[in-house]
Amino acid sequence: ASFALRCKVLHFLDNPADNNNAYQYFEDGLLVIDNGRIQQLGHALELMPTVAPQITIEHLPHHLIIPGLIDTHVHFPQTEMIAAYGEQLLSWLNNFTFPTELKFADETYARNTARIFLDELLRNGTTTALVFGTVHPSSIDAFFKEALDRGLRMIAGKVCMDRNAPAGLLDTAELACQQSEELIQRWHGKERLQYALTPRFAPTSSAQQLDKIGQLLTQYPGVYLQTHLAENVNEVAWVKELFPKARSYLDVYDQAGLLGQRSVFAHAVHLDHQDCQRLSETNSAVAHCPTSNLFLGSGLFDLTQMEQHKIKVGLGTDVGAGTSFSLLRTMDEAYKIQQLRGHSLCPFKALYLATLGGARALDIDAHVGNFLNGKEADFIVIDLHATALLRYRVDFCQSLKDLLFVLNTLGDDRLILRTYSLGQCVHQR
Ligand code: GUN
Ligand code: ZN
Repeated sequence: ASFALRCKVLHFLDNPADNNNAYQYFEDGLLVIDNGRIQQLGHALELMPTVAPQITIEHLPHHLIIPGLIDTHVHFPQTEMIAAYGEQLLSWLNNFTFPTELKFADETYARNTARIFLDELLRNGTTTALVFGTVHPSSIDAFFKEALDRGLRMIAGKVCMDRNAPAGLLDTAELACQQSEELIQRWHGKERLQYALTPRFAPTSSAQQLDKIGQLLTQYPGVYLQTHLAENVNEVAWVKELFPKARSYLDVYDQAGLLGQRSVFAHAVHLDHQDCQRLSETNSAVAHCPTSNLFLGSGLFDLTQMEQHKIKVGLGTDVGAGTSFSLLRTMDEAYKIQQLRGHSLCPFKALYLATLGGARALDIDAHVGNFLNGKEADFIVIDLHATALLRYRVDFCQSLKDLLFVLNTLGDDRLILRTYSLGQCVHQR
């Protein structure tokens, strides 16, 4: 099970914000895959004579291979309610999200949605995601069954909420932990699946529930924690009312012991200096969700603040509040948000965030995120001639940076010719 692809190849070895030699680019490269893993990457003309004669080499002359894209925050049950009109966060949750999530008590219903969701991820070149289910444990069984069938690397968890939501969507502190623990035992570490404890956000969990989740997190090292943080100003004010003794929104999670190397906080739009310091010193990660932040009018994420504090950042689509499954579309909106803050997000940085940066945020960079020898062969083939405009525009690019910015700005699912997972082609246009 060996094969090789000859085309342009780009991957990151480090964060371009910290390192001037952060990427490797081969204008005429050769990527050799063996048994689902990266065997070798180099210049085609140098490597080809060394490749065993039985290995087929496919030449893709106007294509670019990059690592599989990583979505660090997304809700699979919200696929059916993407593009819901007219609200900001709290009323959006009440009017659209909660009614939708009630349907996921039915595992068959959840499995069908998981199928559509994963098809959409792969069509968009996303090979790994950190995923919210609903409060129903069966929603996560359905999701993991579907991901297992496809051999994907995925992280997911059942939502925990014991207040401020419809009765049909509530658990309790005890039930949430019992159900989460059963799911950990059933799924965490099965093939490439991993579990994330998932308190929805501070307003829907009691302090007791957050504390118990914090205890589970210590009990199961290697398990993840995902939640929402400081997304919207009304939400932040509500958290202040609900937890009057906490110093800040982040402090609510900190007091419960929820920060750490495998904790991912979505949004983080409204943070102060002390919050950033705590995220940094605990090695916690943030998921930046630009299409969602613009769609719900939540605010403009401060990427510079994160870089100054050396906080790990990944990109999240946050579907259904996000408006696209495409991380290329997400990079485009990230650029526009930084423009409104007075900075230009360089395309190398944006692509880092969508690949190795995401892998680091999810603490899976030992396995995926770039093309170091031995890593899992999760990668995508981008067709630089996918649309008439793109084909025309790329001919005018003077540099790799130009080309990447054109992909960043014009790119979407049409460009993703193929998606590979563990060396298997799992999507082909
Ligand atoms: N905060 C709490 N729940 C949600 C959700 O489902 N989506 C978003 N964007 N924010 C949330
Ligand atoms: Zn979300």
